[in-house]
Amino acid sequence: MKKILIIGASGQIGSDLTGELRGKFGSQNIIATDIKKATHEVMENGPFEILDVMDKKGIASIIDKYKITDIYHLAAILSGNAEKNPKWAWNINMESLFNVLDIAIEKKIEKVFWPSSMGAFGSTTPAINTPQLTIMEPSTVYGISKQAGERWCEYYFKKYGLDVRSLRYPGLISWKTEAGGGTTDYAVEIFYEAIKNGKYECFLSDNTSLPMMYMADAVKATIMLMEAPADKVKVRSSYNLGGISFTPKEIADEIRKYIPNLLVSYKPDFRQVIADSWPRSISDEAAQKDWGWKHEYDLPKMTKAMIENIREKLQ
Ligand code: NAD
Ligand code: SER
Repeated sequence: MKKILIIGASGQIGSDLTGELRGKFGSQNIIATDIKKATHEVMENGPFEILDVMDKKGIASIIDKYKITDIYHLAAILSGNAEKNPKWAWNINMESLFNVLDIAIEKKIEKVFWPSSMGAFGSTTPAINTPQLTIMEPSTVYGISKQAGERWCEYYFKKYGLDVRSLRYPGLISWKTEAGGGTTDYAVEIFYEAIKNGKYECFLSDNTSLPMMYMADAVKATIMLMEAPADKVKVRSSYNLGGISFTPKEIADEIRKYIPNLLVSYKPDFRQVIADSWPRSISDEAAQKDWGWKHEYDLPKMTKAMIENIREKLQ
């Protein structure tokens, strides 16, 4: 029977992915872990343990305790926070991956999921419809750790036969938790501020176009990739995921369909430089061809879902 360990389950992705996996495979079969407490939903609806991914023995003991078969390793320091303390972020992002990959081999784990990011691309990458195979010269410590992580995942697959799978997520938009310190966080914050205060000061310029995705699509892609037969998973570094591309001005205009008086001002900070080095849109043709990927949410559908869910949550 499948027993899944999620590391970093209290974060933006874990807060949605944990519930989805519990619904699919049974609550008792999904072990959520993090260094901090999770949402009420994640902590109450199935096993939850405090676990530091830097503690290799701790991971091993949870694997033994629950007879884990698969691992989703979500713990990381995201792009904005990583730039504030680059060596600390590099250490966590890389050491945690080595801990998980090495333990996966020792404990004969069947499958590992580790997310990469569009942050693995850089300013020399073709910015429009970025292909799967292309120039990758990331300029952030986050991007460098994702690019190196991709290479290591492919190395462990080829050298040790570890079934490790990965997606290059675009910016993810969701409502269950706050975003975790990335460059695309504005696209979550703007909804909360619009609903609570009717105004928002954006840390990117109004015309900064970035690839984004609603969390329901990201979770669906993650589970589809992990459930695909191994011979369909041809890319063992990380698959591009495209989603939808929009600017802060475009998302603000869409939100104004629900909150007509929303005021948005623009005060770009250090994250503007990061955003400027990332693609404007991404081609996920390889994911479409290999395991049938297709996203569902466009900007209007995502905006409607965000507004409805946040309004209900804040009631
Ligand atoms: P997040 O910051 O919201 O969550 C990460 C979680 O990891 C947090 O709950 C944090 O407490 C936990 N964590 C940090 N250090 C830990 C440690 N030492 N031990 C155990 N847990 C620890 O991030 P997220 O948005 O959920 O992202 C998850 C993964 O997806 C990351 O690898 C991230 O780079 C990647 N990703 C996210 C996005 C996005 O837009 N959210 C986009 C691309 C890639
Ligand atoms: N959303 C992430 C970030 O901004 C992209 O990997 O860091």
